[in-house]
Amino acid sequence: MNRIVLRSCCVTALLSIVTCATILAQDNPIQLTIRADKPGAKISPTMYGIFFEDINFGADGGLYAELVKNRSFEFPNAMMAWNEVKQASAAGSVETLDQDPFSAASPHYVRIKAEAAGYGIVNEGFAGMGVRKDENYVFSTYGRDASGKTAVRVELVSPDGQVLADATIKDFGSKWAKKTATLRPSATEAKAQLRIVLDSPGTVDLDMISLFPRKTWKNRPNGLRADLVQWLADLKPGFFRFPGGCIVEGRYLSTRYQWKTTIGEPEDRKLIINRWNDEFRHRPAPDYFQTFGLGFYEYFLMCEDIGAEPMPILNCGMACQFNSRELVPLDELQPYIQDALDLIEFANGPVTSEWGAKRAAMGHPKPFNLKYLGVGNEQWGPQYIERYVPFVKALKEKYPEVQLIGATGSDPQIFPNGPAEVKFLQEKLQELKADIIDEHFYRKPEWFFDSAGHYDNYPRTGSKIFVGEYAAQSVGVASPNNRNNLNCALSEAAFLTGLERNADLVTMSCYAPLFGHEERWQWRPDLIWFDNLQSYASVNYYVQQLFSLHRGDVVLPVEITGQEPPTSRQPGLYVASSRDDKSGDIILKVVNSAPEATSVKVKIEGGLRPIRGAATVLAGEKLTDENTLAEPNKLVPVKTSLKSVGATFDYAFQPYSLTILRLRTRNQS
Ligand code: AHR
Repeated sequence: MNRIVLRSCCVTALLSIVTCATILAQDNPIQLTIRADKPGAKISPTMYGIFFEDINFGADGGLYAELVKNRSFEFPNAMMAWNEVKQASAAGSVETLDQDPFSAASPHYVRIKAEAAGYGIVNEGFAGMGVRKDENYVFSTYGRDASGKTAVRVELVSPDGQVLADATIKDFGSKWAKKTATLRPSATEAKAQLRIVLDSPGTVDLDMISLFPRKTWKNRPNGLRADLVQWLADLKPGFFRFPGGCIVEGRYLSTRYQWKTTIGEPEDRKLIINRWNDEFRHRPAPDYFQTFGLGFYEYFLMCEDIGAEPMPILNCGMACQFNSRELVPLDELQPYIQDALDLIEFANGPVTSEWGAKRAAMGHPKPFNLKYLGVGNEQWGPQYIERYVPFVKALKEKYPEVQLIGATGSDPQIFPNGPAEVKFLQEKLQELKADIIDEHFYRKPEWFFDSAGHYDNYPRTGSKIFVGEYAAQSVGVASPNNRNNLNCALSEAAFLTGLERNADLVTMSCYAPLFGHEERWQWRPDLIWFDNLQSYASVNYYVQQLFSLHRGDVVLPVEITGQEPPTSRQPGLYVASSRDDKSGDIILKVVNSAPEATSVKVKIEGGLRPIRGAATVLAGEKLTDENTLAEPNKLVPVKTSLKSVGATFDYAFQPYSLTILRLRTRNQS
């Protein structure tokens, strides 16, 4: 009997659909035949990974758990995010100075002069600060006070002025020194602020004013938001691409991402503007800067924690070609190449090497085992090849084992002369025998449904394909009206069945972008959404997760008869099958893009007989359905066991669904 996982509501409606679908299926049976005896290409363990970029307040204000914005007074408007506070009749003055700072990389600090107790400053956080009742928050600051008498009161306050936690810091000396205190809020608040006032008349200099939850990912100081890293760990990603994205390129070369400025003590990491600060007029973010508190060392560490291969993408001497298009002259490219060489040494070199020693000094003597490196992000034109070639030559000479990723521009539909530019680079990179070629797709869901066969006839020249950024755009590329809805998720799943079937060619893929702050995003759709306290996964996330958790190690051919190949106009079943080497499980992934259940006869050929199985189904009622903060679990995978399976069995795929059938098998004899 066909087995269907029924969601609680609409049981009657579904039952009638099932009956009707069964009748249809009897009239016109669809058969799906898996050739277990004809294993095809190996599926790379890196097939499904993560793309990360500091966009949508994904790092500062997101993954990086720092709650204070502009903690080091290095924003061009040094007091941005800070306001003066005058309690009762308190008076005083606040100024930012840079004489005799404690860190040359972060020269500005604040001087607070109070004429009476209760004068000071308050920080607004990132659209407020999310704090939880009875959890500990670590406040720290560098400070000095020539008089040695000034006491500072630190308070977490709610928007209506209630003090949720407070602590006093005293005994500042005349030299810069770090002071810490623990704050334990009496209530949970998503929009708290941090107030710092003097307890008596006096003067104090403060810098690097910081507030972190004690509970970060693995409880590390200078740590990451645990809930957000958990989402990433739960993807069991094959790799983690960082730090972007266009952020690698910068609007100008002077504001490109430079990994060396992101390691060492956080206060010595020089802040720069975030390139998404002013990219979209409809989503301005004048307070968006990169502190690099989350820098390359932290990225490597997190990759290790979540079992993902680190995949840094580096600037190759080209600023963003959507913006300034600045190019470094070829005879000045060497420092860029040296940065790449040094990065490999930082990640993999012995502790006796210059950069390996820096890694060890940060707490990780063991190498990070870097295997992949991207040369540029979305670059195009012959200018890219002129820079890519010397990069590859120098890197391969010293580190032939590191796989290098070449760029082919942005999505062909969104940059000037896109299709021709992409073709030019694809051919050039294939000619140059690039290890891996990066391709990007930001398209309508219809394109993804129609492109499950995109790589079926793609030339096999030896270079592997990395689908390094993609996401279905329900309205248009980066439209503020795009939604993370079921239609987009199913179209991505249909596309992924095609990537998996072409695993001999496609060895990596990742959805982009990753994070979106509910209030502070610039680009949507995004895989994971969060506010200051909570986070939830989009339905698109669950597609990624199901493909990743049920990747399989080798492709199994699967034939489908009884249906026309599905398209965006003619919905149907998209399929891929694989085998997991360890368990021997046969995995069948099926996307049903139709509004009705579809009954299918599943046949396993090759002398194997399933003895038991499980179905994990991600489905919804309407293509516009989506997860939200209010309903984070509206669309989540549901797992049931399959009672009767054999070498042939019937199964009805739910309307609008992605189903993973996982079958434990035994030899038939
Ligand atoms: O994912 C958002 C942006 O899209 C990336 O930064 C860029 O590489 C692409 O154009």
